[in-house]
Amino acid sequence: MVNKINVKKLSCYYNKKCVLNSLSINVVKNEILSVIGPANSGKTTFLRTLNRMSDLEVLFSRAGEVFLDEENIFDMNMQFLRRRVGMLFAMPIPLPMSIYDNIVYAPKRLGLINKKTDIDALVEQSLKDASLWDDVKDRLHTSAMRMSGGQQQRLCIARILAINPEVILFDEPCSGLDPISTAKVEESMLELKKKYTIVLVTNNVKQASRVSDKTAFFLMGKLIEVDKTDTLFISPKEKQTEYYITGRFG
Ligand SMILES: Nc1ncnc2c1ncn2[C@@H]1O[C@H](COP(=O)(O)OP(=O)(O)O)[C@@H](O)[C@H]1O
Ligand SMILES: [Mg+2]
Repeated sequence: MVNKINVKKLSCYYNKKCVLNSLSINVVKNEILSVIGPANSGKTTFLRTLNRMSDLEVLFSRAGEVFLDEENIFDMNMQFLRRRVGMLFAMPIPLPMSIYDNIVYAPKRLGLINKKTDIDALVEQSLKDASLWDDVKDRLHTSAMRMSGGQQQRLCIARILAINPEVILFDEPCSGLDPISTAKVEESMLELKKKYTIVLVTNNVKQASRVSDKTAFFLMGKLIEVDKTDTLFISPKEKQTEYYITGRFG
């Protein structure tokens, strides 16, 4: 088991108010770590710190360290870091262009590809990895806006894959999706972890139990407990975790 991400005593503050309190956690390579917990527990802040999106906010400050393959992310070039650590938001927002162009937009802009054959291959591979290829292979040049919500979400996953990241961060990726689309996104996550390392923030406790290897429970900026998903759900060590996963939380 190789640690892909190593978080050491990370604390985050907005306007000096502590929203993440000395959090230490590891994410193992090719595993899915789920982060669950009520609203305002610091889940999104945690995720946005892993690729330093939160550094862009005024009033944000932090202490502690985060290592990606033993390299301190706070010493890294931000653009480079965000290519290695891609992030998917709750609401899928494809660009108003074709499915094909959505995927090639970022890699072209970053100068990662230029030969037509390379581009075609990248589009195909990214769509396959996002479990979307069979749905759209006959209409790659039609507008992405005409896809269903679930397909748009998987297209946004394909767009991240096209820049060849190592880690993918998901922030409540299924909160706007119906159960069938949710199942497809979960299916593609299980496929994705073969190649990538995944951190999944989810407000859906059942989703965490279905897809993740490890689950972390956050409460009011604190990591209450992290364990193998089966262990955490079958025999949580902390009362607060038990209350949350059984839905008895205020
Ligand atoms: N941009 C921001 N400016 C000020 N406070 C923020 C900002 N983002 C989050 N917070 C505060 O940080 C705390 C944790 O928020 P967040 O990380 O979004 O929690 P979660 O994702 O678990 O709901 C909340 O109290 C929230 O109000
Ligand atoms: Mg959030």
